[in-house]
Amino acid sequence: MAEHIKFKTDRLLHGGDYNPEQWLAYPEILEKDIELFKKAGINVVTMGMFSWSALEPEEGKYNLEWLSEIVERLYRNGIYTILGTPSGARPKWLAEKYPQVLRVDGQRRRDLFGGRHNHCYTSPAYREKVWQIDKLLGEEIGNHPGVILLHISNEFGGECHCPLCQEAFRQWLKEKYGTIEELNRRWNTIFWSHTYQSFDQVESPSPRGESMLHALNLDWKRFVTHQTADFAEKEKEALQAGGCYKPVTLNFMDDFDGLNYRKFKDVIDVASWDSYPEWHRKPEKITAVETAMQHDFMRSLLKKPFLLMESSPSSTNWQDVSKLRKPGVIQAAALQAVAHGSDSALYFQMRQSRGASEKFHGAVIDHYGGADTRVFREVSETGKALELLREVVGTQVSSSAAVVYDTENRWALLDSQGPRNIGMPYRETSQKMYGAVRRQGLNTDVIDMEDSLEGYKIALIPMPYLFRAGFEEKVSRFVEQGGIAIMTFWSGVADDTDSCFLGGTPWKLMDVFGLCSMEIDGLYEGEFNGAVPVQGNSLGLNRKYSCKNLCELVKVSDAEVLMEYEKDFYQGMPVLTCKKYGKGKAYYVCADMEQEFYTDVLDRIVRQENLEVPLKTIPEGIEVCTRESSEWIYTFVQNFNHQPAKISIEENMERWFGGDEDDGIPEYGTAVYRKRK
Ligand code: GLA
Ligand code: ZN
Repeated sequence: MAEHIKFKTDRLLHGGDYNPEQWLAYPEILEKDIELFKKAGINVVTMGMFSWSALEPEEGKYNLEWLSEIVERLYRNGIYTILGTPSGARPKWLAEKYPQVLRVDGQRRRDLFGGRHNHCYTSPAYREKVWQIDKLLGEEIGNHPGVILLHISNEFGGECHCPLCQEAFRQWLKEKYGTIEELNRRWNTIFWSHTYQSFDQVESPSPRGESMLHALNLDWKRFVTHQTADFAEKEKEALQAGGCYKPVTLNFMDDFDGLNYRKFKDVIDVASWDSYPEWHRKPEKITAVETAMQHDFMRSLLKKPFLLMESSPSSTNWQDVSKLRKPGVIQAAALQAVAHGSDSALYFQMRQSRGASEKFHGAVIDHYGGADTRVFREVSETGKALELLREVVGTQVSSSAAVVYDTENRWALLDSQGPRNIGMPYRETSQKMYGAVRRQGLNTDVIDMEDSLEGYKIALIPMPYLFRAGFEEKVSRFVEQGGIAIMTFWSGVADDTDSCFLGGTPWKLMDVFGLCSMEIDGLYEGEFNGAVPVQGNSLGLNRKYSCKNLCELVKVSDAEVLMEYEKDFYQGMPVLTCKKYGKGKAYYVCADMEQEFYTDVLDRIVRQENLEVPLKTIPEGIEVCTRESSEWIYTFVQNFNHQPAKISIEENMERWFGGDEDDGIPEYGTAVYRKRK
């Protein structure tokens, strides 16, 4: 594993994306911005990601002075810089001179110039031009004391099917499989006579060509991740070649499955992400849980504090509807990130641009330009709150539960053609399981199959269709040593090149769970079945729950059946089973159950196993998380309901932030309690 450079900040970072290149002709605005930043408690800005044509207006003619000056001026005013590299959007001259930098799509058509985030990551010309400018940024700006972090490119994503990428893909395959015979065997290419005679014949998937060879699709996605991570790594090396060895981050996106973010673990020193929940579309308590899961996913990448790199201080311009955040939500969202382990709450953007695509995206300073706006006021309040909470900087989140949410599994599962092409509820099932543990106030990591399960008390394993990285062994060891595993339908069906296991599933875990899967029924839209409790079941479940989408039919060998199907020809067959195995327990959920089912099952398991929870009673819509230092445990309590919430805390906890309102924590309010360890 690569050595990580430690990222340290002495305060909770508050600020965000700032594009001074758009304002170079307005020096008075640049001056005023600094005053406004100070007023709003802004202590960091991210610059440079979209500045390429201002930094290198013509090939080889660089102009970095304006950026150096702004970095220096901000620093003198107590504001740090996160320095971006500009590879997310290239200048026109570059695309004209080196057309190979333009991406080719799956139809094999090359893009025209325009937009952003659309370059070929293989192109030597692109890599070279990026190297030169990054190296110079490293030399001239990166070592300024105001620069605390290097932000490589912007929201990496997308794929290129150009001849250069095809060649790189073939090389990657050659290294992976050695011989074409081995590739044919692992990919099962004999199906429909698609056998290759040599690596030269392999092409990336295309809607005009090969698109149903699932192992090809899977390896192509892996290659795209590999190539993108390699590109990012080269950017880091360029900055270092310029003498700048500061910590590096990449800004990840919300539940993005175009890349397997876990493969970027070695490139980054601190994880960061851009959070744009559609607040007020669903009940806020649901949006909060969905966002929480993403925070936990990002934190779990390096298992240390992460950064909230972007969020909108009001609306976005790209969602269906530009919904304003209701009063209090800016702060609630910022502190939610902190509660989950973020050392920052940053916005896109500091100042709203005048023209082009994002002119109507929310900003801390809008076109009106004053401090007397609702958003500015709320941002300033948030700045004050972050200052008060400064002590939590760098503190850790320690989790007793983990949800295994695996990108490669997701790729294969959604690509598989059957058992339900109109929707495989992977994300939904993961969210339901996550929501159920969060409801208990248990800190939860969101990990993948490459991670270890050691140290957790509960492992929630939604639809692990594809077994890889020795996952089956990890699960059986985990249960054997006393862990509680809750695994669902459609488990252990295929290996890591998406070839189905022979001899029964969940593969190599039939003994641990005490059952074997026999069939799986896809349900039409609007079709439901139910689960009814078996009298005297060990969790004391006593009500009926509904299920939809997928119902698996299993044959139990030696597990307790806790719930059974309510109807259809499989009425009376198991829906929920449990087997004691070694020192632990292995639960199996056979159908796509409703949220309430998971919530109740988790509630009963937590009580039965006497697991330690941060608060005894947590009302619905109240989110509870803890961070800890060597001395203190900080318990964050946030109210995502519309009525104030009265919380009873334990005797040894002291009120530290908020929570002093007479009628309880208000709507979108946060209270933080402290107790000595
Ligand atoms: C992304 C990008 C930003 C900006 C915002 C708008 O997160 O990284 O540059 O476009 O979206 O919401
Ligand atoms: Zn390419």
